[in-house]
Amino acid sequence: MLCFLLLTLHWTTVSAALQPSTRAAAAALQDDGTRPYIYRCRSPNMEIFTCWWRPIANQDNVTYTLLYTTGERAPQECPDYVTGGINSCFFDVKHTQVWEVYCMNVTAHTRTGPVASHKHCVDVADIVEIDPPFNLTYIMLNESVGESGRSVLLSWSYPVESQVREGWITLIYELRYRHFAQPDNWKMKERLREPHVELLDLPVGKYEFMVRCRSANSKHWSAWSESINITINGRPLSGTHTQRNTHTGPFCYERKSQL
Ligand SMILES: *[C@@H]1O[C@H](CO)[C@@H](O)[C@H](O)[C@H]1NC(C)=O
Ligand SMILES: *[C@@H]1O[C@H](CO)[C@@H](O)[C@H](O)[C@H]1NC(C)=O
Ligand SMILES: *[C@@H]1O[C@H](CO)[C@@H](O)[C@H](O)[C@H]1NC(C)=O
Ligand SMILES: *[C@@H]1O[C@H](CO)[C@@H](O)[C@H](O)[C@H]1NC(C)=O
Ligand SMILES: *[C@@H]1O[C@H](CO)[C@@H](O)[C@H](O)[C@H]1NC(C)=O
Repeated sequence: MLCFLLLTLHWTTVSAALQPSTRAAAAALQDDGTRPYIYRCRSPNMEIFTCWWRPIANQDNVTYTLLYTTGERAPQECPDYVTGGINSCFFDVKHTQVWEVYCMNVTAHTRTGPVASHKHCVDVADIVEIDPPFNLTYIMLNESVGESGRSVLLSWSYPVESQVREGWITLIYELRYRHFAQPDNWKMKERLREPHVELLDLPVGKYEFMVRCRSANSKHWSAWSESINITINGRPLSGTHTQRNTHTGPFCYERKSQL
C-alpha cells in the first residue's frame, strides 16, 4: 500500500513537471504567493518561446532571476527578461532547441533572502500555441439552386508557413459556425488537415464563421480567427454564378460561368 502511494506520488510529481495540463491542479499548492510560480510557457512556432511567472505577493523591491538547464549542461541565466514583458523570460532562436527538455526555476531576491519557485520542465514541441489563422474567405458553390440552400467553400491562410512547408509543424484546423437565429448553437468541423473546407447545402440564412488551429503535437489551440459573416440567399445570384470576396489564400478555386 505504501509502495503504491509512493509510486502514485512519484508519478504525480513527474507528470506535474512535464504536463502543462496537470499544472492547474498543482497550482493551488504552488501558487499561494509565498514563492514565484512559473504558470505558462508558449512557443508560437517552435523557433522561439517565452515563459511567464507570477511574482510573490505583497513585497516591494523584489528582483527575479530565472535559471535553466537543458540536458547535462550547466545552469544558465535567462537570456532576455525584457522582450516577453514583465515577469517573463524570452528564448530567441539561438537559445531555443527543439526536442530538448528545459528545466527552469525562478528565484525572487527579497530583503529577507532568496525564495525559489518549484522546478518547471517543458519540451518546446509541447508548448506550441500558434497564432490564429487569418484571411478567412469564402466562395459560394452551386450555380443555380432553388430555395433549399447552397454549398460554400471556406479557405484561410495560416501563420508559420515555412515551418509547415519544412515539416516541422503539422497543423490541424477547427472551423465553427452558427446561424444568426441560433447564436448559442455553434456547429463544428473538426480535425481538418487542409486550410479549406466545403460545407454542403447550408440552409438559407445568415451565418458567422471562424477558424482556429493547433500543432498536431500540442494540445493548445490558437485563438479563434476573426469571423466572417455569410448570407445564404438560396436564389441564383444575378449576373455571375460565382460570388467571391477577396481571395488571397494559397488555395485557388476556379469555376466556369455559363452566361
Ligand atoms: C526600493 O529600493 C530603493 C533603492 O534601492 C529605495 O529607494 C526604495 O525606498 C525601496 N522601496 C521600498 C518600498 O522599500
Ligand atoms: C534552480 O535551477 C537551477 C538550474 O536547473 C539549479 O541549478 C538550482 O539548483 C535550482 N535552484 C533551486 C533552489 O531549486
Ligand atoms: C450543391 O453542391 C453540392 C456539391 O458541391 C451538392 O452535393 C449539393 O447537393 C448541391 N446543393 C444544391 C442545393 O444544389
Ligand atoms: C458577424 O456578426 C457578429 C454578430 O452580429 C458580429 O459580432 C461580428 O462582428 C460580425 N463579423 C463581421 C466580420 O462582420
Ligand atoms: C491576407 O490578407 C491581407 C489583407 O486582407 C493581405 O495583405 C495579405 O497579403 C494576405 N496574406 C496572405 C498570406 O494571404
